[in-house]
Amino acid sequence: MSARPGPWRAGCSHVARSVVDEGEIPVNVSPGEVYENPRCGERIVVRTPASETGGKRSVMDLYVEPGGFAAGEHIHPISHERFTLVRGKLAVIQGGRKTVLDKVGQSILIQPGIEHRWWNPTGDKTYAICEVIGNGTRFEQMVMRQLFCLAVDGKTNAEGMPKLLQRAVTSLEFQDVLRFVKPSWKRQRILYEILAPVARRLGYVGCNPEYMNRKPSEIAVLEDLPDEVLAWHY
Ligand SMILES: [Fe+2]
Repeated sequence: MSARPGPWRAGCSHVARSVVDEGEIPVNVSPGEVYENPRCGERIVVRTPASETGGKRSVMDLYVEPGGFAAGEHIHPISHERFTLVRGKLAVIQGGRKTVLDKVGQSILIQPGIEHRWWNPTGDKTYAICEVIGNGTRFEQMVMRQLFCLAVDGKTNAEGMPKLLQRAVTSLEFQDVLRFVKPSWKRQRILYEILAPVARRLGYVGCNPEYMNRKPSEIAVLEDLPDEVLAWHY
């Protein structure tokens, strides 16, 4: 009999099985859990984890400090990503075009493979809903756990990017989830495949089991959402 992993016993899924999003879904995160990235000024409260949707979607409440931002321009190879504004403003560049979400319920959908980044352009906190459609389990593992824990442990630069050897193994491990776009992925991949054996010998791991099982910083009560936001089926 195979035991379903408990909330603190999520493992590192392998790319080949994760993209299918079928079968047993590891419990990475649970509703109300809080994960924070102090480098980027991000706080995520889990609303609907991928484990409740068969891995199909993950819905997160995203709070962004004034000037806070996503770490690096990136793409999601197989996921759609939707941001819907609840409070404040959220600036998003996708495919070179800038949009500022500034109305409650205003939403933007980013297609797989489209380069994008976002930030809070104001002096007040921003609150938005982030929905990842497709590969949700792996998104939770990479963003909320691997990247955020690296930031908490001081293992990223000021922009929230993992330092080079760490970036090599994590970028290869999670290439199905997120790829930074500069330099080109083709050039990054060549570099990372040269560096990865060295990094692994030095003890770096792309998906750190300790991060996958680290307790959240706190458990929060989810805010009630206004009708304009609920219209997006959150
Ligand atoms: Fe994204």
